[in-house]
Amino acid sequence: MISQKIEKAINEQINAELFSSYLYLSMSAFFESISLPGFAGWMKAQAKEELEHAMKFFEYVNERGGKVILKDVEASEWQWDKPLDVFKQVYSHEQKVTGLISGLVDLAREENDHATDNFLQWFVAEQVEEEASAEQIVNKIKLMGESGNALFMMDKELGQRT
Ligand code: FEO
Repeated sequence: MISQKIEKAINEQINAELFSSYLYLSMSAFFESISLPGFAGWMKAQAKEELEHAMKFFEYVNERGGKVILKDVEASEWQWDKPLDVFKQVYSHEQKVTGLISGLVDLAREENDHATDNFLQWFVAEQVEEEASAEQIVNKIKLMGESGNALFMMDKELGQRT
């Protein structure tokens, strides 16, 4: 059984993961609208991953005898000026999520909830990857620039993500 505090905090995290999925899906639609299908596919894969993160928390709450309460998911932005802005936002969003996960770990430790602490470690490691891949793409766009040619090449590369 998880404490009410942990239950509430994980329910908030489910909402945050669903919002992440919504945000990346919106970014995918933006890339479709500017004819960058590879970028769009990358974002769609990312949106699916976020949904999986939400589901991991969802299953965990149920497994521990808690109750999942789904709240409204905030609307996402839908327009950006250029691809670099989108990926800069992905990077800062992931940094924010890392902070949320760290907060959950702190809470689990305060509550002496070793099982939740252990469960959260998967997310701690995942956030390292999430931040690194977003930062890498930001740096690559900065390096290559945003000419038609550079974006065409990057679109091909990002489109390889499944
Ligand atoms: Fe679910 Fe990208 O963190």
